[in-house]
Amino acid sequence: MEIVEYRDIHQTRLIELWRACDLTRPWNPPEADIERAIANPSSTILLAVEDEQVTGSVVCGYDGHRGWVYYLATDPARRGSGTGRRLMREAENWLRDKGCPKIELMVRDTNEAALGFYDSLGYEHQPVVVRAKWLIEPEGGSPTATVPRRRNPPT
Ligand SMILES: CC(C)(COP(=O)(O)OP(=O)(O)OC[C@H]1O[C@@H](n2cnc3c(N)ncnc32)[C@H](O)[C@@H]1OP(=O)(O)O)[C@@H](O)C(=O)NCCC(=O)NCCS
Repeated sequence: MEIVEYRDIHQTRLIELWRACDLTRPWNPPEADIERAIANPSSTILLAVEDEQVTGSVVCGYDGHRGWVYYLATDPARRGSGTGRRLMREAENWLRDKGCPKIELMVRDTNEAALGFYDSLGYEHQPVVVRAKWLIEPEGGSPTATVPRRRNPPT
């Protein structure tokens, strides 16, 4: 397996991979997400390539305080053979080379597989809640919030 930086020739296969890994959402058009990730020198897309096929991906970026990773994916047919671990190591190296001191990442709380994966790589639970606000409204409108704001602690 080799790790390479994304080039335009990879686009079709990368989007297929994200779809196969259920990482696409209507409000995150993959073409636009790819364009944004490669347009800026503080972010990149790293790919795992085996037998000239894209078998894994990770998007990483340094915001000047923390490093973030997105779209970590291993082809379902290649899971459990170290691709995800290798991609995360390369993302860590890429971010460290930029001077980034710490990685943070977001995982849907229902994604038990990814949580187990990150546990085994030493990523620790953080007592934070994520809030978000659209600055450019996605085509078709933004998704409905699924978690209501809680004003008082549970009794
Ligand atoms: C998460 C994902 C990238 C892991 O990729 P992978 O290539 O199968 O992972 P690896 O083979 O490198 O596994 C690395 C370690 O994680 C552990 N691991 C992998 N999947 C796991 C799971 N479902 N539950 C618990 N641990 C898991 C492995 O046991 C391994 O530990 P070890 O080296 O100590 O044996 C892959 O399952 C995936 O693409 N999932 C769908 C997309 C997704 O949810 N991405 C994360 C978005 S936040």
